[in-house]
Amino acid sequence: MKICCIGAGYVGGPTMAMIARQAPEIDVQVVDMNAARIAAWNSDSLPIYEPGLERLVREARGRNLHFSTDVVGGIKAADVIFVAVSTPTKTYGVGAGRAADLRFVESVARTIAEHAAGPKIIVEKSTIPVKTAETIKDILAANSRGHQFEVLSNPEFLAEGTAVTDLEAPERVLIGGERTPGGQAAIQTLVDVYAHWVPRERIITTNLWSSELSKLVANAFLAQRISSINSVSALCEATGADVDEVANAIGRDSRIGPKFLKASVGFGGSCFQKDILNLVYLCEHFGLPEVAAYWEGVVQMNDWQKRRFAARIVRTLFNTVAGKRIAILGFAFKKDTNDTRESPAISVCRDLLAEQAQVVVYDPKVPAAEIRQEVLGKGEDGRLLVAASAYEAARGAHALAIVTEWDEFKTLDFSRIFEGMPQPAFIFDGRNLLDLAKLRALGFRAMGIGK
Ligand code: UDX
Ligand code: UDX
Repeated sequence: MKICCIGAGYVGGPTMAMIARQAPEIDVQVVDMNAARIAAWNSDSLPIYEPGLERLVREARGRNLHFSTDVVGGIKAADVIFVAVSTPTKTYGVGAGRAADLRFVESVARTIAEHAAGPKIIVEKSTIPVKTAETIKDILAANSRGHQFEVLSNPEFLAEGTAVTDLEAPERVLIGGERTPGGQAAIQTLVDVYAHWVPRERIITTNLWSSELSKLVANAFLAQRISSINSVSALCEATGADVDEVANAIGRDSRIGPKFLKASVGFGGSCFQKDILNLVYLCEHFGLPEVAAYWEGVVQMNDWQKRRFAARIVRTLFNTVAGKRIAILGFAFKKDTNDTRESPAISVCRDLLAEQAQVVVYDPKVPAAEIRQEVLGKGEDGRLLVAASAYEAARGAHALAIVTEWDEFKTLDFSRIFEGMPQPAFIFDGRNLLDLAKLRALGFRAMGIGK
């Protein structure tokens, strides 16, 4: 069997590497129009950082895993084609700011239809609005020249930073397809691929729309828990309760459960906000404004939480940060990834720059140019600096703000840092990573989220 995956991003790359490793007899081609990205996948420094990924890729690359820019060749050869291109939020026209931009998905569908010279199974891996499979089928059917196409939905639930372990032992694999004989046969083909390493009872099969919708709803539920605990964090700060204690107390109830209850400066990442806004758009489209408003609240609470964090820094630093150096520790949207998409750090840096602070960012994995690009776009601002270490960022800073929960921040020598800061020295722990009592004992004025 031959598999081709169009889109060598955070989803396509690791997922295909895992299939190639677990199913050595399947030939896996990952294609992407971005030549630099493909070159990186073929080099010693992969385009994305994920623990365990390098080893995984090295094991299979050149054997049954290949990266190339030959999209057409990949399509022609493959029996199964995964579509893992990006589906960003539309920035223009109808649905701007909410609806998913499906231009890449549509253009991929047209390319497949144009070059396929036999029957193909098309697998939607990208997260997409419900009923996109219809669109893909429609385009394929209208251009198929008699070839048989089956469209499956197979959303990816991996989280960044743990992609390799998530792919290796997924809690479930979801495959949606049509209830026709052709659809069922296609589902079986894909089930057989995953069954190389995933226990059969963990592979769920549904109809197409249930599968598409489940991905959006899973992310909406996860994000909703974070916004819920973050809303409580504000109340904790007002009342003297400690949000981690509250989360622990409620999470012991097995009906609630302990995961995804960590209060923070806000959630980031390429999926949560985008998928919820997609869900909101979908509800509005189907005449369900109350449902739309309910879910939109999750994103609004998150925006508020990010702004609230920066506002607290300004308020605590005697209502002015103009000309003050503020160290931002961590820029990725969470630890163990170099991904900065929708990172709360972006909003925090912008708010502080707007208050005329000098903002010095340090992140162990994100390159300086990317930090500047995310915060400033094409603009320039001499007050945004990037440091090569946490110590360098902290030197001379009036305040430190922890924005990403990198492990290395837990073991910093805070007494050394304290010495190099103007007094009083402040720490704002946006991830509740540090022991505030210890920091206070060193002389810091330290505060966390919801405490
Ligand atoms: C994935 C999913 O595709 C997205 O829908 C989901 O919500 C998040 O995860 P991701 O892998 O993170 O996206 O995206 P990205 O890293 O941007 O990778 C997409 C790749 O597709 C890029 O390398 C891009 O060059 C490529 N691409 C895009 C094509 O090869 N052809 C196109 O027409 C468009
Ligand atoms: C998420 C989903 O978890 C995954 O299943 C889906 O496939 C893609 O979207 P990801 O965005 O990679 O994965 O990371 P995740 O670990 O879910 O974290 C998202 C954001 O929420 C991060 O900014 C994280 O720091 C934040 N978060 C997470 C919290 O603030 N508190 C928590 O308790 C958990």
